[in-house]
Amino acid sequence: MNISKIQAMKSKEKIVMITAYDALMAKLFDGEVEMILVGDSLNMSFGGEKDTLSVTLDEMIYHTKAVRRGVKNSLVICDMPFGSYIDEKETLKSAVKIYKESGADAIKLEGGKEKAKVIRELTKNSIAVMGHIGLMPQFVRAEGGYKIKGKDKEDIKRLIEDAKVLEDAGVFCIVIEGVKSEAAKEITKSVKVPTIGIGSGKDTDGQVLVWSDAFGFFDEFKPKFVKRYLEGAKLIRGALKEFRNEVKSEAFPSEEYSY
Ligand code: KIV
Repeated sequence: MNISKIQAMKSKEKIVMITAYDALMAKLFDGEVEMILVGDSLNMSFGGEKDTLSVTLDEMIYHTKAVRRGVKNSLVICDMPFGSYIDEKETLKSAVKIYKESGADAIKLEGGKEKAKVIRELTKNSIAVMGHIGLMPQFVRAEGGYKIKGKDKEDIKRLIEDAKVLEDAGVFCIVIEGVKSEAAKEITKSVKVPTIGIGSGKDTDGQVLVWSDAFGFFDEFKPKFVKRYLEGAKLIRGALKEFRNEVKSEAFPSEEYSY
């Protein structure tokens, strides 16, 4: 998979993206989806933190390297962590480090038109950039929670403007998170690059889900936009109980599993 193929899919075929944080999962997902995102959501679902903000550049690189080892066909995208893309110089330094050390095909960063300069700095230095607008998890502390966007005309106008400025700065694709369906549809129509929605309705060019949400491994709560395609946590708990009981009862290991 490459960026031109992703772009050619706009309005023709829906694009599928899923997160992965290690080689084990990445191998299972490879080739089944167009893109695999090493999202900074790993800080929550993998690291057990309450938000994404504390993940470091080196931690993102470590996980992206693992995913890269498991992927031959899908496009691998690494999220730039909070604080690593503050100005042009810092952003280029962080993204070059990601490219060189992790082997990612592209990077993703959150922000609207205020990020145009840093995005342009990356794209003019041959770094492929995926934008991310709408509900941006890295803004959770500044905004005092996760807030759905695109609720009124003014906000929709602002989001469309953000998407157009990002496109102009050279992003190859834009994630639209937590945006009202009608607004996400308008944004998608207003740009030539594909949009990938999460919690933003059906009219974006593709969809992304966090793997541990989609497969039910994270089961403390379920946001409205998450569909569980598997009850992973239930399956693991059941299997673990079986293992535990067999060890306690000395049914495992039997002759079959012994040398
Ligand atoms: O960090 C992440 O997993 C993301 C997706 C939710 C788009 O940014």
